[in-house]
Amino acid sequence: MEAAGRWRRGAALSAALLALSALALLLLPPPPGSALPPGLLEELRQRRRDLRRLAAGGAAAEGGLRCGDVRRAAGTAPVLGSGFTKVVVRAALAGGGAVALKSVHGAGREVRQCEQRYGEPAGCRRLAAYKLLKEVTLLRRLRHPGIVQLHGQCYDSGGEPEAGVTAVLELGAPLEMIQLLQTPWEERFKICLGLVELLFYLAHSPLGSIVLLDFQPRQFVMVDGNLKVTDMDDASTEELSCEEDNDCTLDFPTKSFPLQCSSAGKCEGINEKRNLFNAYRYFFTYLLPHSAPPALQPFLSDILNATGNLRYGINETLRAFEKVLHLYKSGLYLQKRPLLLKEAYKCWPSYSHLGCLLSVHSPEEAAAICSSQPQCQSFIITQQRTWTGRPLASFQSSPTDLIPDTTAVAYIKRSASLGRRL
Ligand SMILES: Nc1ncnc2c1ncn2[C@@H]1O[C@H](COP(=O)(O)OP(=O)(O)O)[C@@H](O)[C@H]1O
Ligand SMILES: *[C@@H]1O[C@H](CO)[C@@H](O)[C@H](O)[C@H]1NC(C)=O
Ligand SMILES: *[C@@H]1O[C@H](CO)[C@@H](O)[C@H](O)[C@H]1NC(C)=O
Ligand SMILES: [Mg+2]
Repeated sequence: MEAAGRWRRGAALSAALLALSALALLLLPPPPGSALPPGLLEELRQRRRDLRRLAAGGAAAEGGLRCGDVRRAAGTAPVLGSGFTKVVVRAALAGGGAVALKSVHGAGREVRQCEQRYGEPAGCRRLAAYKLLKEVTLLRRLRHPGIVQLHGQCYDSGGEPEAGVTAVLELGAPLEMIQLLQTPWEERFKICLGLVELLFYLAHSPLGSIVLLDFQPRQFVMVDGNLKVTDMDDASTEELSCEEDNDCTLDFPTKSFPLQCSSAGKCEGINEKRNLFNAYRYFFTYLLPHSAPPALQPFLSDILNATGNLRYGINETLRAFEKVLHLYKSGLYLQKRPLLLKEAYKCWPSYSHLGCLLSVHSPEEAAAICSSQPQCQSFIITQQRTWTGRPLASFQSSPTDLIPDTTAVAYIKRSASLGRRL
């Protein structure tokens, strides 16, 4: 609430908000800094350099959004979340769409710590604003379904332009790990797959291999069931420089990995590997294994093992996820389900020697077959198809309550007739 109020005051101060591109800002003369402490000046210079490097080669796109709309939108903005550096509020635009507005968190730890150190509120705000500008620049240059979409940005023309930057983002919902643990496996798998696709993109991005240095669930939001990274100010495109292999240890609290120093003097693949291990320890271990279809568990264990000890790179990890997706979507994994065996009975000419698996034209045909077979109590239309495209139906001798998975349709015999259960 405090943040929304501050935003309103800031907006009211300026008669109009000025739309500038992040690049245009960089062309402004350096801020008058002679009065600032040397330490703060140096930090500002570093961030400016970092920003320039990222912006180089990028298109100087104008914000596609009228800043007057943004100002009106911030009126009753509820806070969605905040971190060390930034605060995010929800806003409805004039057109009716809802967006997230991200700006510097004046009461956040980054600004406060800087103020304690240097006693320069304005300079410290600017220092924090550089991080948001860096994020905006990165969001502009990177496009991926796993990265929150930037609609535009505004600069408050009152006061110092950099400090008054507001990014207008696609609206998401902050990640609730506890809630996610209670969603079906299929949803959790989707989140992990989306994360792997994102890391694949980051590893091969137009800016080089990008590492998310502050990789935690709270840097992500959910948009329509899809995971998206929102906090990009701690991303880096630089790979660690080295002289020998000893300079290239990738350290985590529970584990460290010795990497190699390449002939070019860079720790090879360190960015990709850091992202992947973080995905393993913050996401995969919690979301992937529990209540997964039993037949998929060996594949998931392998993924957990291979990312947990960095045996796989991102390419192999993506391949392994796509394989699980294929098995799951096609229903192929059902072949190995022990449940099919328990209630199975033999029939002829079955596709499987383990039970009664027949190709059918339709559920009606399967129902007729089941009616004609005294042992048959229920059947499942699987996602498996024969080469002609006919689905395989698995006939069973118990009226099972077990619905094998969300891709199959189960039918249960009801006295003489059959009732569709699902
Ligand atoms: N697009 C968004 N939609 C909804 N909430 C968001 C969005 N972006 C960020 N948030 C929330 O705001 C918080 C702070 O944003 P973040 O960019 O992580 O700032 P910081 O750099 O200070 O950590 C996030 O942890 C998240 O909960
Ligand atoms: C991966 O599997 C190997 C061999 O089976 C085992 O020694 C190792 O501890 C496992 N590592 C992880 C992270 O699960
Ligand atoms: C991974 O895949 C990318 C994109 O397809 C490719 O450019 C790269 O060479 C691959 N890396 C490895 C180690 O296989
Ligand atoms: Mg954050």
